Amino acid sequence: MTPGASFALWMQTVQANVEATLESALPAPGTQPARLHEAMRYAVLGGGKRVRPLLVYAAGALFDAPLPALAHAAAAVELIHAYSLVHDDLPCMDDDALRRGKATVHVQYDEATALLVGDALQTQAFEVLAAVAADIAPARQIAMLRLLAKAAGSRGMCGGQAIDLDSVGLALNREQLEQMHRLKTGALLRASVLLGAQCGKVLEADERTALEAYAQAIGLAFQVVDDVLDATADSATLGKTAGKDAADNKPTYVTILGLQPSRALADTLRDDAHRAVARFGAAADPLRALADLIVQRKA
Ligand code: IPE
Ligand code: IPE
Ligand code: MG
Ligand code: MG
Ligand code: MG
Repeated sequence: MTPGASFALWMQTVQANVEATLESALPAPGTQPARLHEAMRYAVLGGGKRVRPLLVYAAGALFDAPLPALAHAAAAVELIHAYSLVHDDLPCMDDDALRRGKATVHVQYDEATALLVGDALQTQAFEVLAAVAADIAPARQIAMLRLLAKAAGSRGMCGGQAIDLDSVGLALNREQLEQMHRLKTGALLRASVLLGAQCGKVLEADERTALEAYAQAIGLAFQVVDDVLDATADSATLGKTAGKDAADNKPTYVTILGLQPSRALADTLRDDAHRAVARFGAAADPLRALADLIVQRKA
C-alpha cells in the first residue's frame, strides 16, 4: 500500500482499514447495554473524512511503520475525535442537530446517552492505543499514550473547547483566536502526525522538529478552512449545520480576517506544511497531499 501510484486509491484503502479497525474495536451490536453500544457505533461508523487516521498513516509511511500499529493509533485518534464531536454538538455546547449527514447523537438518542457515548469512546481510544503493544516497545507505547492523553485534555482539545465557549460574543484578537484553534483542533491533528511517525520509530530531534512544523501548519489550516466552510458552504454539502458560527456569535477567522484573507492564510499554511517536510523526499508525498486536501476540501 504505497501512496505513490494514486493518492486517491491510497486514501480509500486507509479509510477502509480504519473502518474495519473501528468496527472490530467497538462492542458488537446487541452487546449490553445495547442502547449505549448502538449509539457509540452510530457516532463512529460510516461517516467522516477520517483526516486524522489518514495523517497517522501518512506520517507512518515516512518510517515504514508496521500496519497493525498504525491501525490502532489511527482508530484511537478517530475515537477521541468522534467523542469530541458528540460532545461539541450537545445543547450545552454548540447545540447542533446535524453531524456527518445524520441527526446528532443527542437528537437520535438522548442527551444522557450522548454524554456517555463521549465518555465511553474516550476510554475506548486508550484501550485501543494500549493494544499497539505487539509492535512497539513499552517505553515508546507509554510515550504515545501520554501524547494522546495530553492532546485530548485541558492543555489540548478540551482546553480549546473551553476557550471556544468562553469566547462567544467576544472580539478575540488574532493571537487569541490562533491559540484557541491550535488547541481545539490543532492538538489532535498534531497528535495524529506524531503518533503515526512514532509507530515507525523513536524520532530524532530534527525529525520531530520537522513534523511539529508540519503539524502546526496543517492544524491551524484545518480550523481556518472549517471556519471558511461554515460561512460559505451549505448544510447538505457539509453534513453539518452551515452558518452556525455566525448564528452563535463565535469569533472565527472569517469574522476577524474576512473571507479572502482567511483563504489566503490557509494557502500560506499549506505552503509552510510542504516546506516543513521537504527533507523527507517522496516518502512525504501522502503528507503533502493531505495538506493540499485539508486546504482545498469542500466539506
Ligand atoms: C470537524 O472535524 C470538527 C473540527 C475539528 C473542525 P472534521 O471536519 O474532521 O469532521 P469529520 O470527522 O470529517 O466529520
Ligand atoms: C469543534 O469546532 C472542534 C472540536 C473539538 C470538536 P467546531 O465547533 O467548529 O466544529 P464543527 O464545525 O461543529 O464541526
Ligand atoms: Mg464547537
Ligand atoms: Mg460545533
Ligand atoms: Mg466549525
